[in-house]
Amino acid sequence: MKALTYHRYGTPDVLSWSDVDQPIPGPHDVLVRVRAASLNQADLFMLTGTPRIARLAFGLRRPRATILGRDVAGTVEAAGAQVTRFRPGDEVFGEVEQRGFAEYVTAPAAHLAAKPAGVSFADAATLPVAATTALQSARLAGLGPDRTVLINGASGGVGTFAVQIARTLGATVTAVCSTRNAGLARELGAREVIDYTRDDLTGRYDAVIDLAGSRPLAEMRRLLTPRGVYVASTGTGGPLLGPAPRLLGVVLGGSRLRVLTSRRDVDDLTLLAGMVERGEVTPVVERTYPMAEAAAALWRLRDEHARGKIVLSP
Ligand SMILES: NC(=O)c1ccc[n+]([C@@H]2O[C@H](COP(=O)([O-])OP(=O)(O)OC[C@H]3O[C@@H](n4cnc5c(N)ncnc54)[C@H](OP(=O)(O)O)[C@@H]3O)[C@@H](O)[C@H]2O)c1
Repeated sequence: MKALTYHRYGTPDVLSWSDVDQPIPGPHDVLVRVRAASLNQADLFMLTGTPRIARLAFGLRRPRATILGRDVAGTVEAAGAQVTRFRPGDEVFGEVEQRGFAEYVTAPAAHLAAKPAGVSFADAATLPVAATTALQSARLAGLGPDRTVLINGASGGVGTFAVQIARTLGATVTAVCSTRNAGLARELGAREVIDYTRDDLTGRYDAVIDLAGSRPLAEMRRLLTPRGVYVASTGTGGPLLGPAPRLLGVVLGGSRLRVLTSRRDVDDLTLLAGMVERGEVTPVVERTYPMAEAAAALWRLRDEHARGKIVLSP
């Protein structure tokens, strides 16, 4: 089969669409024929090996996993002997442990959710990392009716879901993005938009969800009402330590400052797919690239100005 492989850290140019052995599912795994995948900032961290501290986990000198990609949707081709949830032909989606940007991938059945027939493979592939992060951030921020929330970084992969989920939960949303995305943020449900390229972040909010990590923590804190909650959900930071210094500040900042570390949750995936099926949330897909051209897609993501999600199709 073909897969998007890399054997050293670097720019998207180190990737190649090459022949590799098809994976064999273990007893608790399924083999999925990938029909769509989507990009996340985490793929760039893995590709470039930055922040450098993350190499402790990814592989010190070279990447341990040689195929990129976490978010997939596809069709079950084969199921291990112990798998009862799925059988060949079922349509599934979820977050895999790397190796997703390929024609086939194996994953524990417990990591995958059933894809509703009314949700396309491309839309399902946008959900695992980004929409789960948005949903879990909204929960950690305590969003609900009569709550106001400022979402910093509202027009990217996570942000476009966060705005829609916040609106669906009944919160009043102020979106922070650049000029060209202000209309999109309003269409997704933001009541107000702050253009960070021209204006300061102002106002007081019951919650701030920070996906951009672009402003000092003290400034973000001043945006909170007396009982307001700040949720840091950003991976942005320096080349050595990434977001770690900022997140340490959040952890030490008291109970109203919180760090979101999104976790894989099949119930959340099912919930999110239902929201998409009912039209409560519509994935924003900036563009779909053939998987063999993923390098161009990753260059696009690297400038941190993607509009919604970028999808890959094998
Ligand atoms: N906590 C977790 O578990 C978790 C999970 C997934 C992702 N993340 C993190 O969440 C962040 C967002 O991810 P993503 O996939 O949405 O990234 P993305 O698709 O690259 O989007 C980034 C967005 O940030 C906006 N932006 C850039 N500079 C900004 C600034 N100075 N002020 C405000 N907004 C700015 C951009 O908007 P414009 O184009 O309008 O400039 C863009 O839409 C990343 O740091 C990622 O690492 C965390």
